[in-house]
Amino acid sequence: MRVLVTGAASGIGRATCLRLARDARARGQAAKIAAVDFVPLRELDSLIEDLGKLDAEALALHADMGSADAPAQVVAEAVGRFGGLDGLVSNAGINRPGALLQYSVDDWDRVFAVNTRATWLLAKAAHPALKAARGAIVAVASMSGSNPHANLGAYGPSKAALIMLVQVLAQELGPDGIRVNTLSPGMVRTGMTAKVYADPRIAAERDALVPLGRVATPDDVADVIAFLLGPDARYVNGHDLVVDGGVSGNFLGRLPGLSRITRG
Ligand code: NAI
Repeated sequence: MRVLVTGAASGIGRATCLRLARDARARGQAAKIAAVDFVPLRELDSLIEDLGKLDAEALALHADMGSADAPAQVVAEAVGRFGGLDGLVSNAGINRPGALLQYSVDDWDRVFAVNTRATWLLAKAAHPALKAARGAIVAVASMSGSNPHANLGAYGPSKAALIMLVQVLAQELGPDGIRVNTLSPGMVRTGMTAKVYADPRIAAERDALVPLGRVATPDDVADVIAFLLGPDARYVNGHDLVVDGGVSGNFLGRLPGLSRITRG
C-alpha cells in the first residue's frame, strides 16, 4: 500500500504510519509511506527508523499544509517516488484556542488553512493517482466538528467544515472509485494535548467522563484509520466515524437532579 500521511511526526499520524507498515508486513508486503510534517526533517528520523524496522519504504517530507502550494508538492513527490498512491490520510491539524469575540482574523485563517483547506488541496492533487488505484482518503476531523466547543476559536468551525468538505468530496469522487471519509476522535493523549494530561487530576477527571473509562491512545484512532483505508470499508463513503469511547453522548446522563426524578 502506497500512502501519504500528513502530521506524521507525532500522535495519531505517527501511530497511523506504524499501523499501516505493520499491516503491510503481515500481508508479506512492504508499505510505502510518505510521512509529511511541518517539523524539521530530523524530527521525523525516529519514525523513519521505526518504519524501516517494519520493512516499510518511507519518504520524509517537510511541508506546511497551511500553505496553498505544499499539498500538491508533497503529493507529486510521493507519486513520483512510489509510482502512484493508494491512500491519503489528511491528519495534520492545529488548535488555536480563544473566545470568538477576541479572536484574530490571522488565527481564523491559519486554522482553516491547515485543518480544512489542506484536505481539499491534497484531494485535488491526489485525484489522478487515487483514481488509477481506486484508493481512499481519510481526513481526521474531531468531535468538536459536530458538538459546539466554546473558547476553541476556529477549531470547531474548521472541523465542521472539514466533515462537510469530505461529504461533498465523497459525492464527487465516488464515481471514480475513490472513497472519502472523516474520522472524528474524542479525547486523545498526543502532543497536541500533552499539557492537559500532564496534570494527573485533570487526566483522571477526563478518563471518568468517558463511558469506556479512559481517554484514547493514538493507536485507538490509528486502527480505525487503517480500517477506513482498507478493503473491509469498501462500501463506506462520505461517513464521519466518531471514535470517542462514547464521550460526546454522555451529556444527558450528567444532568444535575436526575436522581430526584420519580417514576410515573
Ligand atoms: P499532534 O500535535 O500530536 O500531531 C499533529 C502533527 O501535525 C504534529 O506532528 C505537527 O507538527 C503536525 N502539523 C501541525 N501543523 C502542520 C502543518 N501546517 N503542516 C504539516 N504538519 C503539521 O496532534 P494529534 O492529536 O495527533 O492530531 C492529529 C489530528 O487529530 C489533528 O487534526 C487534530 O485536530 C485531531 N484531533 C486530535 C484530538 C486529540 O485529543 N489529540 C481530538 C480530536 C481531533
